[in-house]
Amino acid sequence: MTTTESSAPPIRWGVLGAGGIAATVGADIAASPGSTLAAVAARDAQRAAAFARLHGVARSYGSYEELVTDPDVDVVYVATTHAQHHEHALLALEAGKPVLVEKAFTLNAREARKVVAVARAHRLFCMEAMWMRFNPLIQEAQRVAASGRIGDVVAVRAELSRRFEYDPNHRLFNLEVGGGALLDLGVYPTTFAWLFLGRPDIVQATGSLAPTGSDATAALQWGYGDGRIAQVLSSAVSGSPFAGLVTGTSGWIQVGRRVHHPTTLTVHTAAGDEVSSVEIAGNGYGPQVAEVERCLRAGETESPLAPLDETVAILEILDEARRQLGVRYPADEA
Ligand SMILES: NC(=O)c1ccc[n+]([C@@H]2O[C@H](COP(=O)([O-])OP(=O)(O)OC[C@H]3O[C@@H](n4cnc5c(N)ncnc54)[C@H](OP(=O)(O)O)[C@@H]3O)[C@@H](O)[C@H]2O)c1
Repeated sequence: MTTTESSAPPIRWGVLGAGGIAATVGADIAASPGSTLAAVAARDAQRAAAFARLHGVARSYGSYEELVTDPDVDVVYVATTHAQHHEHALLALEAGKPVLVEKAFTLNAREARKVVAVARAHRLFCMEAMWMRFNPLIQEAQRVAASGRIGDVVAVRAELSRRFEYDPNHRLFNLEVGGGALLDLGVYPTTFAWLFLGRPDIVQATGSLAPTGSDATAALQWGYGDGRIAQVLSSAVSGSPFAGLVTGTSGWIQVGRRVHHPTTLTVHTAAGDEVSSVEIAGNGYGPQVAEVERCLRAGETESPLAPLDETVAILEILDEARRQLGVRYPADEA
C-alpha cells in the first residue's frame, strides 16, 4: 500500500442483503485495510442486526432504503438474489451511491442496460462483482494469450458445474429469484470465453430443464466468422473438475481447478509446460475489493477490468441461450 492509500480514510461499505455471499464477501471487505463495513440492511431488522453483530458491522437497518440514504456509506454492495439486482442497484444509484452488484448483474440485458444508463447519467461508479476478472492467474492468462506465446487463439472451453440438491424454492431452481445454472454458474465460463474471444457471431444452446422450468444444465457452442469456436458448460445438477482451456495454434493455456477462482495456470508451448499457482488470502475476493477501492479513490466510474458494456454483452449471450433453452423469467415479459 502506498503512503497516499494508507493515509486515505477507509471506503465505507453498505451491504444490501444479509445472505450467504454478503457474509463471505463481507469478510474480505472487513479484512481490507482500505475498507470498512459501515452498515448492513436486510428486509428484517433482526436479521440485519444479527449479521452486524456476527460480522462487526457498525450499523444495521431493517430496510434497504435506510441503507442507501445513510450519508456515511460510500458504496453499496448489492448482495441480493439476481432477480432483485436491477431494483436494488437502481435504488442505490438513485440515492446517489456507487454500487458493486453481485453476479449475475441483472436477469437480462434489458435490465442491465437500464442500470448502466442510470449509473452513467449520475456519473456514479458501477461494476458487476465478477471477481474472476481480478484473479491474478486470469489476468496472467490474458497477458499470455495477448503476447502470442500460444500462437493465435482458436478455441476456448470452459465449465463451471456444481451439484445442488433439487429444491424448487432454492435460488438455483426458483425462477422468481432468477434460478438456473446459466445465470448462477454459466456466467463465469461465459465471461472466461469472452475474455479470450470476444462477442461470438453464433450462439447455439442445448441442455435440460428442472421441474421449475429453470435450466439445470446448459451447453453452449459459440462460432465466429473466422472459424474460432467456444464451448461453455454449466450444470446445477452435476459437478465437474473441468475449468478453462484456451487453445492456440502453437500451444494452450489451462486454468484449474475452478474457472471463477483458479489457483493454477499451465502454459504449454513447444518449450514445455510452465506452471504457476497462487493463493489468495481470505475468501478470494480481496483483489475485487481492492479494485473498487482504487476506482472510487481515483474517481473512475467504471473499472477498465470489468467494463459495463461487456457485462451487458455477456447478458445478451445468456439471453439468447435462455431463449433457445426455453427459460423465461417473469422480468423477461416486462
Ligand atoms: N461471487 C460469488 O462467489 C457468489 C457466490 C454465491 C452467490 N453469489 C451471488 O450472490 C447473490 C446472492 O446469493 P446468496 O448465495 O447470498 O443467496 P442467499 O443466501 O439466498 O441471500 C440472498 C439475499 O437476497 C435477499 N433478498 C432480497 N429480496 C429477496 C427475495 N425476493 N427473495 C429472496 N431473497 C431476497 C435476502 O436478503 P435479506 O437478508 O434482506 O432477507 C437474502 O439474504 C446471487 O446473485 C448469487 O449469484 C455470488
